[in-house]
Amino acid sequence: MVRNDSGVPEKGMTILKLSNVSKNFGAVSALTDIELEVKAGEVVALVGDNGAGKSTLIKILAGVHQPSAGRIEFCGKEVALDSPSRALELGIATVFQDLALCENLDVVANLFLGHEMSPWNLDEVSMEVRAWTLLRELAARIPSVREPIASLSGGQRQTVAIARSLLLDPKIIMLDEPTAALGVAQTAEVLNLIERVRERGLGVIIISHNMEDVRAVADRIVVLRLGRNNGVFSPDASNHELVAAITGATENAVSRRIDRKSGERADLGGNPA
Ligand SMILES: Nc1ncnc2c1ncn2[C@@H]1O[C@H](COP(=O)(O)OP(=O)(O)O)[C@@H](O)[C@H]1O
Ligand SMILES: [Mg+2]
Repeated sequence: MVRNDSGVPEKGMTILKLSNVSKNFGAVSALTDIELEVKAGEVVALVGDNGAGKSTLIKILAGVHQPSAGRIEFCGKEVALDSPSRALELGIATVFQDLALCENLDVVANLFLGHEMSPWNLDEVSMEVRAWTLLRELAARIPSVREPIASLSGGQRQTVAIARSLLLDPKIIMLDEPTAALGVAQTAEVLNLIERVRERGLGVIIISHNMEDVRAVADRIVVLRLGRNNGVFSPDASNHELVAAITGATENAVSRRIDRKSGERADLGGNPA
């Protein structure tokens, strides 16, 4: 299915709204009464310690898991995300952590993997043109769309995976730890790419452990702890506040350490953020 640009929601409009979403795995409550809202043209960071429920929440939105209770609204209508294809069809795309790219195939082949026949029925030349156009719009630094994935850097692979998820014109894109394996320059490249995606009017949900990345790119930071909401922060929240919400402690060694380090950098005239 090809959607055109007229289907892009207006910036600031609520695309996704979760109310009281819970998920149990047998006796384990992975999520309890989760509230989440994502607007068009907004990056929402989902942060929390291991086991906080981030992946479970992403999988519910990707149609992989079904919620045990709660309500999910998409563009104002209640929806059942009962399969991954249903989520995609509505316009919720996911870039999972493993990226699922084929090492031996080139960038064009990876972008169109699974889409070669329908819906576009494109020939090689048209696919190459469309690949270039998209990557150029995203200001992506890919040397050649005929390079095999195996020869690309981690940042370039992440770029290809994100570009691929955009081909179906989603309204929301979810990224699980997009910068976890990347160095400084490649991280900056991926964060720039996320900003391009936001400029296109999409809602972005990003899971990350890196508070600097989160604050650099997020419009709102949603903290989960032990499967529950534990605060929503603006990107200018202090590390102390964020770590306290993540760990449930008001005072702890990790946040003291981060604050001390940013203090040191500020003393040196550096930018603590
Ligand atoms: N398929 C599953 N079966 C049983 N328990 C699960 C399953 N997936 C996640 N959990 C549990 O749900 C909780 C949240 O996990 P998860 O969503 O992976 O957290 P996070 O991604 O924030 O680290 C954990 O207690 C985890 O053990
Ligand atoms: Mg996880």
